[in-house]
Amino acid sequence: MKIRRSIALHVAAALAVTASVTVAQVPPRPQPAPPPAPQPQPGESLAGLDAKSLAQFAAGIEEFANVETPETGLGPIFNNVSCAACHLSPAMGGSSAVFVTRYGRMQNGVFDPLASQGGTLLHQFSIDPQVREVIPADANVVARRMTTPLFGAGLIEAIPDAALAMSEARHKADGVRGHVSRITDVASGMPRAGRFGWKGQHATLLSFAADAYLNEMGITNRFFPVENAPNGNRALLAQFDTLADPEDVVDPQTGRSDIDTAADFMRFLAPPPRLALTASAASGATLFATTGCAECHQPSYMTAPNDIAALDRKPVNLFSDLLLHDMGSLGDGIVQANAGVREMRTAPLWGLRLRRLYLHDGRAGTIDAAICAHDGEAAPAKSRYTGLPAPLQQQLVDYLGSI
Ligand code: HEC
Ligand code: HEC
Repeated sequence: MKIRRSIALHVAAALAVTASVTVAQVPPRPQPAPPPAPQPQPGESLAGLDAKSLAQFAAGIEEFANVETPETGLGPIFNNVSCAACHLSPAMGGSSAVFVTRYGRMQNGVFDPLASQGGTLLHQFSIDPQVREVIPADANVVARRMTTPLFGAGLIEAIPDAALAMSEARHKADGVRGHVSRITDVASGMPRAGRFGWKGQHATLLSFAADAYLNEMGITNRFFPVENAPNGNRALLAQFDTLADPEDVVDPQTGRSDIDTAADFMRFLAPPPRLALTASAASGATLFATTGCAECHQPSYMTAPNDIAALDRKPVNLFSDLLLHDMGSLGDGIVQANAGVREMRTAPLWGLRLRRLYLHDGRAGTIDAAICAHDGEAAPAKSRYTGLPAPLQQQLVDYLGSI
């Protein structure tokens, strides 16, 4: 693990702070220049972490990569054996072309999560063939979801709810609306602004980790102490669920368990590095704003005051307002947390060049295809993009490859 410090970087960060505040309040505007190298690479920790945080990051890597077995609590039904098995590309904490499947039933305009049959998340695997889940015959909505990258997740977590509320209140062009995902945070029990997941379903990394331990790996924990029953069949579950819950045991000395350690890793992961702008990408930066993309893909937020210096009042150049938008036909048809069937969280665009598939279901193999699939509130921006001459479209795509 490399720790990099430079005075130049701190000066640049201070400049970027000023620039990003301007951008956040009066979009659209050209982007602040990317900070000079060296920036941490994907999978490395945030620059300027103190020794305690670095030690937590190192312990977090091990937990994140730890392969679970039926003896350590895996299953009875699950989707994979470790966090890193899905979040691995191009470095640990990244994304991958591993999908999960959600299902439900739409009837007379009302979404039924088919909860009594195990909905909405399908568990593809099981520790025994007899408990294998299937998509119920009643389901008439089936949606795949791609693994999202976690680079910079701690910065996203550190953005205050009030900043998201300001974005919600800001007047937007093209009739774009968008609203805060109003959820109850599982870990704190507090009303919060959701920001993680394709549907903005969680506000904190601890809550997401706890959810993923249960729902992706079948490891019960202090926030999710009840095992998932295969297609809702608790009698069948009882035959194969032999371990006492919660399986992720809290250390009485520290009050912490595996979910806390995994959250530490994500919290201290550096954001994707930005590339220097080519002439083409620099032109694309202006087009990004004038085409209307920045109405939702807000270039920057600022973190709140934070005890950890590396997260304290830092710019977060994620290119998302973290709000839910009506995306029309691009919606995934699933109701989850505060998001309706057509609503999706604006996907952060930083690090786009580290991925090969785009959109929640990976339907787009190119950035151009991803833009062309935009609909609903994004239809005017999409039309403006498709109306651009091809060389200008390329400039916009080049810009997205640099952020
Ligand atoms: C089976 C593959 C798989 C496994 C295993 C898995 N994830 Fe994920 N992860 C996903 C998918 C798919 C999403 C997008 C989910 C959604 O929005 O519904 C996701 C999203 C996330 C997010 C939200 C990121 C964002 O910005 O939206 C976090 C945080 C996360 N996972 C953490 C974890 C942790 C911690 C573990 C291990 C306990 C884990 N994941 C295990 C597939 C997986
Ligand atoms: C109304 C809000 C809105 C506008 C305007 C908008 N987007 Fe998006 N964008 C989204 C949402 C929401 C998603 C996630 C869609 C999904 O769930 O598949 C997204 C996804 C994307 C993705 C795929 C990201 C990924 O992680 O796979 C790209 C690329 C993208 N947008 C680029 C653009 C560009 C370029 C423009 C301007 C031409 C634009 N968007 C305008 C809301 C918007």
